[in-house]
Amino acid sequence: MYKIVITGGAGFAGSHIVDAACAKYPASRIVVLDKMTYAGDVRNIAHHLYSGRVELLVGDVADLDCCRRAVKDASLVIHAAAESHVDNSFGNSLEFTRTNVLGTHSLMEACRQERVPRILHVSTDEVYGEVLSGAAGEGDVLCPTNPYSSSKAAAEMILRGYIQSYQEPILIIRANNLYGTRQFPEKIIPRFICHLLTGRRLPLHGDGSNRRHYLSTSDFARAVLFVAEHGETGQTYNIGTSEEYTNLQMAELIANYFGREVGELVDFVSDRPFNDARYSISWSKLQALGWRPQNSLRNDIGMLVEWYVGNLSRYGELFGDAELLQIPHELLHKFAVDKDLAAAEVG
Ligand SMILES: NC(=O)c1ccc[n+]([C@@H]2O[C@H](COP(=O)([O-])OP(=O)(O)OC[C@H]3O[C@@H](n4cnc5c(N)ncnc54)[C@H](O)[C@@H]3O)[C@@H](O)[C@H]2O)c1
Repeated sequence: MYKIVITGGAGFAGSHIVDAACAKYPASRIVVLDKMTYAGDVRNIAHHLYSGRVELLVGDVADLDCCRRAVKDASLVIHAAAESHVDNSFGNSLEFTRTNVLGTHSLMEACRQERVPRILHVSTDEVYGEVLSGAAGEGDVLCPTNPYSSSKAAAEMILRGYIQSYQEPILIIRANNLYGTRQFPEKIIPRFICHLLTGRRLPLHGDGSNRRHYLSTSDFARAVLFVAEHGETGQTYNIGTSEEYTNLQMAELIANYFGREVGELVDFVSDRPFNDARYSISWSKLQALGWRPQNSLRNDIGMLVEWYVGNLSRYGELFGDAELLQIPHELLHKFAVDKDLAAAEVG
């Protein structure tokens, strides 16, 4: 039987990869290796665990023995485990290096020792650093600017050594920011939704002008499996979308969904020590193979809000003292942004 290992599979992006892999490879055995940090949640994959479809191995990717046990006899390893929140990386950068660099190295060494025939490493568009105009291609120089993106770039350098020296069958993907259900509300979209659901205001870094592209987790997970199947060993593939928002426009999109004016809700707060003004990648290489994004945040915002309404209790430690606001029923069920807002060109 085909065994697929997904590290970080109990996290946000990883759990969507698990969903996609379960659907696409019904005869495969799927193993999640996850340390279950604050960002990992067993509820993200509970349905697969109950059905016996997925096995959860709680362990650390920085532990070589644990990695070897996990990847033994695997046909495919997808490495999505990471410390992922840029804000945390400023205060705790060593943990980011430990998990993202040493963890990636340990996992690759385990894959080498266990002769895993295909490995897909999940990286990020942030490794390119700021791209003020145009779009970064896969061959561009990596120029990370914060401890998180530096650790992701460092991990990629280790992978390059494994590709060149050991001919390890590694593929790398670099994705835009992701949106979707199950994202821990430290990141902008779930944070703003949860803030509005609990009657809080919206804290915006700096002047709110930093721009990001947002790709849906279903497009992302489809791309991950597509690259794992059709990508060329040793190659890197950008995974992106053209849907771009400034942080202020994102606040506006979400506030308007709740029928509120952004101006009455936003607090401008002190910025990160360094905050890339914009990320932008070209995904023409992947498009040439046949993948393209299909979803849009504008259409999915209703689905996202509804998910956080149903799952707000998960984040009790963050929002426990606030009460869920009464949201008009019709707002929860319209599943699309206001027509006026949809008509406004953003980005
Ligand atoms: N979220 C995004 O917008 C985005 C965009 C591009 C790339 N990525 C990349 O996708 C991957 C997943 O990101 P995410 O947003 O789902 O992250 P997340 O923080 O939501 O989840 C990370 C998962 O990794 C697990 N983990 C952390 N340290 C671990 C360790 N030492 N050993 C084993 N498991 C560990 C956590 O428990 C959690 O389940 C990361 O590699 C990230 O760099 C994310």
